[in-house]
Amino acid sequence: MINKKNITIMASGNGSNFISIYNAIKNGIINGRINLLISNKKRSGAVKFAEEKNIYTKFLSKKIIDSRKDYANFLEINLKQFETDLIILAGYLKMIPKEIIIMYKNRILNIHPSLLPKFGGKGFYGMKVHEKVISSNEKVSGATVHFVDEIYDNGPIIAQQKVNISPNETPLTLSKKVLDVEHKLFPHVIKKICEDEINFNKIKPKIEEIRK
Ligand code: GRF
Repeated sequence: MINKKNITIMASGNGSNFISIYNAIKNGIINGRINLLISNKKRSGAVKFAEEKNIYTKFLSKKIIDSRKDYANFLEINLKQFETDLIILAGYLKMIPKEIIIMYKNRILNIHPSLLPKFGGKGFYGMKVHEKVISSNEKVSGATVHFVDEIYDNGPIIAQQKVNISPNETPLTLSKKVLDVEHKLFPHVIKKICEDEINFNKIKPKIEEIRK
């Protein structure tokens, strides 16, 4: 049996992906433990959930984030102290400092609500992604899990899952469809990483497409 991996969640939004990962651990699907939540939004669903479940939470102030050196130090100290194996960005919008990306190469994952490389990069977050997908008359969208590198939404893709766009789709209905898929896709990938089925050290991981 592989040792349980220590998973640090970085989240500042509603926290629904965080909750889906927490539940997958609780149900024995993911062989890991959430050792820490790092957030830059005290009043977020993610922080509220961590409080309810007694999960350690560390806050990143704007002041820390704005000083690049303090930001990298803060992360390094906490990730070392909590012996983090894997960093999961579950609704975290700030850039991760280069030092941490190097230190945790292929051990930082992000989920994005489109089929990357389409509709990704700076400025593509939240509803903006779905609005652009609809106005571009796309027939499909979906979610992507990828390793994080120094460019927004750019790192190697690990897995994607598609959703069909109906003729009367709105950004809101599409966001709900995609989020639903995210709640299955992210735990699925994290499970595989925790079982060492996706190798951290491979330069380009296998792209897996999950079909319903
Ligand atoms: C998700 O849509 C995810 O793809 C994006 O941020 C959103 C977070 O939602 N990176 P939640 O906070 O997990 O509900």
